[in-house]
Amino acid sequence: MTHPVPTGFVHRFEPGTAETAPPLLLLHGTGGDENDLIPLGRALSPGSPLLSLRGPVLENGMPRFFRRLSEGVFDEADVRRRAGELAEFIARARAAYGLAAPVAVGFSNGANIAAATLLLHPEVLAGAVLLRAMVPLAESPEADLVGRPVLLLSGALDPIVPAENAERLAGMLERAGAAVTHTVQPAGHGLSQADLAAAGAWLGRKSGLRASAA
Ligand code: MLT
Repeated sequence: MTHPVPTGFVHRFEPGTAETAPPLLLLHGTGGDENDLIPLGRALSPGSPLLSLRGPVLENGMPRFFRRLSEGVFDEADVRRRAGELAEFIARARAAYGLAAPVAVGFSNGANIAAATLLLHPEVLAGAVLLRAMVPLAESPEADLVGRPVLLLSGALDPIVPAENAERLAGMLERAGAAVTHTVQPAGHGLSQADLAAAGAWLGRKSGLRASAA
């Protein structure tokens, strides 16, 4: 590698092989790491450059992207701080690896930091696939997400994310101008084949994102 490795997050980077495939920013769920979502990224968008991060916060030894006070109750000051650090890292990684603005693909806690980053730093992401996300901040910041496509995939039987909460997140993103597709799958918090099919098809349709965000 000739470029300096960007600092701030433990991560893995896989260069892309397909010119039109958008770079993906992969953000794991609680207890995961930078290796977890690489196979998912490869399957969802073959040929995309993959930038896969490890959450910098430890909860009983499990990596996360921000602190929480209890299940579903977030330390919002920490959410804001960590979203800012993530936005700065994305800028450094784009310069180091020569990337267009990435599409975030986040699962659970990773989807929640992606949603917070969209709302707090809309300029750093070209769009997002939010898998089992919930509202990351009680008060929605004033964000301009006009033109940003967001796919939100929720689970009808999710014991962690109530249906009302996922709908509230979709509404927050829509009010900020994002083009939101919200689908509720017949699934729990874990991902199903239907999620993979829906996310893969959506990303395939967005393959122009790489060029348009460059
Ligand atoms: C969170 O803490 O971000 C959500 O409760 C999802 C989780 O990681 O369990």
